[in-house]
Amino acid sequence: MNQDSEPEPEAARRDADAAESSRASRGWWDRNADEYQREHGGFLGDDRFVWGPEGLDEEEAGLLGPAERLAGRSVLEVGAGAAQCSRWLAARGARPVALDISHRQLRHALRIDGAAPAFPLVQADAGALPFADGSFDLACSAYGALPFVADPVRVLREVRRVLRPGGRWVFSVTHPVRWAFPDEPGTEGLTVTASYFDRTPYVEQDERGRAVYVEHHRTLGDRVRDLTAAGFRLVDLVEPEWPEWNRQEWGGWSPLRGRLIPGTAIFVCERDRRH
Ligand SMILES: C[S@@+](CC[C@H](N)C(=O)[O-])C[C@H]1O[C@@H](n2cnc3c(N)ncnc32)[C@H](O)[C@@H]1O
Repeated sequence: MNQDSEPEPEAARRDADAAESSRASRGWWDRNADEYQREHGGFLGDDRFVWGPEGLDEEEAGLLGPAERLAGRSVLEVGAGAAQCSRWLAARGARPVALDISHRQLRHALRIDGAAPAFPLVQADAGALPFADGSFDLACSAYGALPFVADPVRVLREVRRVLRPGGRWVFSVTHPVRWAFPDEPGTEGLTVTASYFDRTPYVEQDERGRAVYVEHHRTLGDRVRDLTAAGFRLVDLVEPEWPEWNRQEWGGWSPLRGRLIPGTAIFVCERDRRH
């Protein structure tokens, strides 16, 4: 720390409830949106739909269904950031709504689109979606919201509520196995140093003990049970492999680790018609 800067947050493992986690996420993403977009905006592209640092994109993967069938369909993007995925969807004739808790992230969508984006931008918490029941045909999220919330079932139930029966919900998160390893791109990130089974959140806190960044862990089994409890049917679990062409590091995601352990888990689900 130098004299002009804020004190460095302290990292801890402790509980953080839904309110504290949302408050921390909103503040952290507002403060860090500029740097995030500066650092990763080039890789993401303004109108690509990238599922994670491996670079798997929806154009290739078709996890929301064939691209030619997206036209006219309403899609909710949760934790949209600068809404790159929504822009890709809009270009295929879909009707996306981009939602994020961070005002500053959404400002970057305006920066890319100019004053009049082609789809609505909504600032809201994924745990309380401001939409009527059955408003959307599809929902998606590329690393948005779910890694950061204390009560994932609440978010999943909200997504289920706003989807039409049979509607598809596809979301990516850090692969749960990563929790056991240090978040480092080099060889130090290849040695297990923590328990995969320890669900205690990772919290960065300020000098008064207030959380400024929170990440929550769910095991793979937890995620499957959360989906079932919320009324979803799991259709597929995609673990993208690190492709030869991708030489880019993204935080703890790197070609070195990507060749050996999974970095991203993508859950492809459908709203259960029986609920
Ligand atoms: C890793 S970024 C991903 C953004 C974008 N999907 C992308 O691929 O660049 C996570 C996003 O989730 C948003 N987020 C975190 N917690 C949220 C919550 N509770 N509700 C809605 N958005 C949230 C953050 O503001 C941030 O924009």
